[in-house]
Amino acid sequence: MYNSIQLNDNIYWLGVNDRKTHLFENLWPLDNGVSYNSYLVVDEKVALIDTVEKSKIDEFLSRIEEIIGKRKIDYLIINHMEPDHSGGIKEILKLHPDIKIVGNKMTFVLLTGLYNITTNHLLIAEGDTISLGEHQLQFFMTPWLHWPETMMTYEQHTKVLFTGDAFGSFGTLNGGIFDDELNMNFYIDEMRRYYSNIVAKYSKMVVKAMEKLQGLEIKFLASTHGPIWRSHIDWVLKLYTSWASYQAEKGVVIVFGSMYGNTEQMADIIARRLSEKGIRDIKIYDASRRHLSYLLSEIWHYKGLILGSSAYNGGVFPPIENLTRKLEDIEIKDRLLGTFGSSGWNKAGVKGLNKWAEEMKWELVATSPETKGAPEKNSIEQCIQMADAMAERLHELYPEI
Ligand code: FEO
Repeated sequence: MYNSIQLNDNIYWLGVNDRKTHLFENLWPLDNGVSYNSYLVVDEKVALIDTVEKSKIDEFLSRIEEIIGKRKIDYLIINHMEPDHSGGIKEILKLHPDIKIVGNKMTFVLLTGLYNITTNHLLIAEGDTISLGEHQLQFFMTPWLHWPETMMTYEQHTKVLFTGDAFGSFGTLNGGIFDDELNMNFYIDEMRRYYSNIVAKYSKMVVKAMEKLQGLEIKFLASTHGPIWRSHIDWVLKLYTSWASYQAEKGVVIVFGSMYGNTEQMADIIARRLSEKGIRDIKIYDASRRHLSYLLSEIWHYKGLILGSSAYNGGVFPPIENLTRKLEDIEIKDRLLGTFGSSGWNKAGVKGLNKWAEEMKWELVATSPETKGAPEKNSIEQCIQMADAMAERLHELYPEI
């Protein structure tokens, strides 16, 4: 029973750690792994909240058996259909053929599409409740956190909110499960990366969901990935709302794409000047080396973004172009922008970046420095001017820091 961890009064955590998968959604690096959290509510009736990724099914089933033995599960609540949580549904249905699978209209569209499961459906809608005995489950529709069917389940007796992907984090749970058992610096970074990579495109829907949750008494926020929140709930609710409304911290991310080092030199010149002007959080990344996943997270973190690109085949250097397309796709707003670059015989890198900046409607803080080949006096001076302008705007916006 060592792994049978209770959140509260017969609500159990059934999380499993995945340290084998390299890429989440076959796209986002899992350098620190990921956990898939499921939960079991045991009362006169038994309810399972979500399942786990298919590869972890054996461990998952034995964890359930540790808690309820051969007892039947009455309800399977599906907060989210993405296969990292729905991968165990078929197996659960096989073992519990009378189980009621609880979801909304869209849940069952996806359940049929992904697994061809057309029986055992129990359709619920906003505000509906299911009684398990002392425990009462209530459902809140929170579409697009992160697919159209996503919903949250609130257990009224213990005040546990099962949130699906919301408040989720990359990173396995290495012993600690609850926020007060963990060094949260690691998980905040991994949570922001998860947010910016997976949820950010739907930030407007996150704001709506946060509004819906206002007034609900919450003692536990139980996500499908990462820590369970019980000691810093107000703090994390505010943090999530701030991410969803594009708020950022004082600091600058410089991302460059450089073929032979000239654009990189400009990045260093800009960074040095920012430091001289009192900016303390300055991050420089080479877009050819650093995965997009981490760049998005850093850009979500900081207010200032400076992008540098060498010209490449009459356009922007491909990894930088890829980053700009992704920023456009996730519709991030309200950043201060600078652009710079180097070229051999045309000015296609900076020109392409500035065309993109116009479409994004971000504030360009200064004229874009551009050099032919290595940075020379004039472009170095422009780099310094751009750093000065960025620092000045940041000091205006964050005077107290
Ligand atoms: Fe954790 Fe959208 O799946």
